[in-house]
Amino acid sequence: MTEPDMDVRGAAPLETLLRDAWQRLCRGVTDRRAPARHPVLATQAMGGGGEARTVVLRAASPSAGRVEIHTDALSAKVCELEAEPRATLLVWDDKARLQIRLRVTARLVHADAEAWARVPQAARGAYGGDPPPGRPIAAPEAHAPGAARERFTRLVCTIDEIELLHLGAERHRRAVYRRADGWAGALRAP
Ligand SMILES: Cc1cc2nc3c(=O)[nH]c(=O)nc-3n(C[C@H](O)[C@H](O)[C@H](O)COP(=O)(O)O)c2cc1C
Repeated sequence: MTEPDMDVRGAAPLETLLRDAWQRLCRGVTDRRAPARHPVLATQAMGGGGEARTVVLRAASPSAGRVEIHTDALSAKVCELEAEPRATLLVWDDKARLQIRLRVTARLVHADAEAWARVPQAARGAYGGDPPPGRPIAAPEAHAPGAARERFTRLVCTIDEIELLHLGAERHRRAVYRRADGWAGALRAP
C-alpha cells in the first residue's frame, strides 16, 4: 500500500484498508517474496505464556474470512492449538508500512488426502521427519526428513478479527474489523 485512497476528510476509508490487506494476504499465498508469505503464528504455550514461530501462508479466502497453514502433526503448535484453538497470525509489510494482525480460531484437519496430493513432492519431507520436531538429537545428521501423509496437518484458521495498523506519512491509522459485525471496521487510537 502506498497511501491508500483518501476520502474528503483525508482519511482512508475503512473498506479500502481492509481490501488492501486482503490483497496482500492473497499475494502471500502465490508470491514467495511477498511479506504475507511468512506470517508469525502465535499460540498459547502449554506451560502458560506465549509461543511464536514463522510459518508459510498456504491459502487465503476473503469471502470465507479464512487462511490456512500446513504443519507436522507432531509439532508443538498442534498440541497447543488442540488445547487452545484461538491464535494470532501477524504480518509486517514494510513497503506498505502495514501491520496485519489476524485473530483466528484454528481447526485441525489431519492427513487430508486431497490437500496432500497438491503438496509438491519436494515439500513433503517437511511432514513426517524422524525424530519428530523438537526432540533432542546429537547432530543435525541424526534427523531424517520423511514424507508421511498421516503427519500432514492443515491448520484451517477462521478469522474472528482483523486488526490493521498503517503507519502513514501524515498520521497512523489503526482499525479493527470483526466477523461478528459483518467486518464493519472501527477506528482505534494507534
Ligand atoms: C521461513 C520459515 C517458514 C516456515 N514455515 C513453516 C510452516 O509453514 N509450517 C511449519 O510447521 N513450520 C514452519 N517453519 C518452522 C517453524 O517456524 C517452527 O520452527 C516449527 O514449525 C516448529 O514449531 P513449534 O515447535 O512451535 O510447533 C518455518 C520456518 C521458517 C524460518
